Amino acid sequence: MQELDLNKAIELGSPYPYTLVVTLGENGRPNAMGLSWWTFTSLQPPMIAISVGHERYTHDCLERGKEFVLCFPSEEQSGQAWLCGLKSGRKVDKFAEAGLHPVPSTVVKPPLIEGSTVAYECRVVGKLECSDHTMYNGEVVGIHGDPERAGHLFTIHYSKLLGVDYRGNVKLNLP
Ligand SMILES: Cc1cc2nc3c(=O)[nH]c(=O)nc-3n(C[C@H](O)[C@H](O)[C@H](O)COP(=O)(O)O)c2cc1C
Repeated sequence: MQELDLNKAIELGSPYPYTLVVTLGENGRPNAMGLSWWTFTSLQPPMIAISVGHERYTHDCLERGKEFVLCFPSEEQSGQAWLCGLKSGRKVDKFAEAGLHPVPSTVVKPPLIEGSTVAYECRVVGKLECSDHTMYNGEVVGIHGDPERAGHLFTIHYSKLLGVDYRGNVKLNLP
């Protein structure tokens, strides 16, 4: 074993899941942000936590709306999903620019992204300040998915994407 700096450790610990968090802006426009830092926090009832940087537009949207949808974009959506991790909804309409299609959720106000492998509708029930991020704990209030699009996205060191499905099939070097 060697001592590692954080950067190398993060690289070595790859891949990480790559999801999109959908929130609603003040203007009523949906926004999707690329996010790797998510986890289940409870099974009964099901809960999911996401960690969001203070400067993200998504942070503002969560403080206001207290609801989010956690989508697992399918590998077919890799290019569109990647854009959502590079640009801010403060400056651009990412749904329009990426060509993502919102479809109404059943319970929460932010929409689902059509074509996601899985999408969890969540209502924020708690939060924890973690220095430069806020961890929002959401109760899952709706679950949707598309078994025909089982391949979804993982990131290597936050710099490239690969697709993996639940059977363990891997697609490398997605755009
Ligand atoms: C692979 C990848 C993973 C990311 N994971 C997170 C994350 O877990 N939490 C976070 O706050 N930002 C994360 N980001 C950064 C945001 O997606 C990025 O800053 C985005 O432009 C913020 O969008 P917004 O301003 O519309 O909210 C990630 C970006 C990439 C490319």
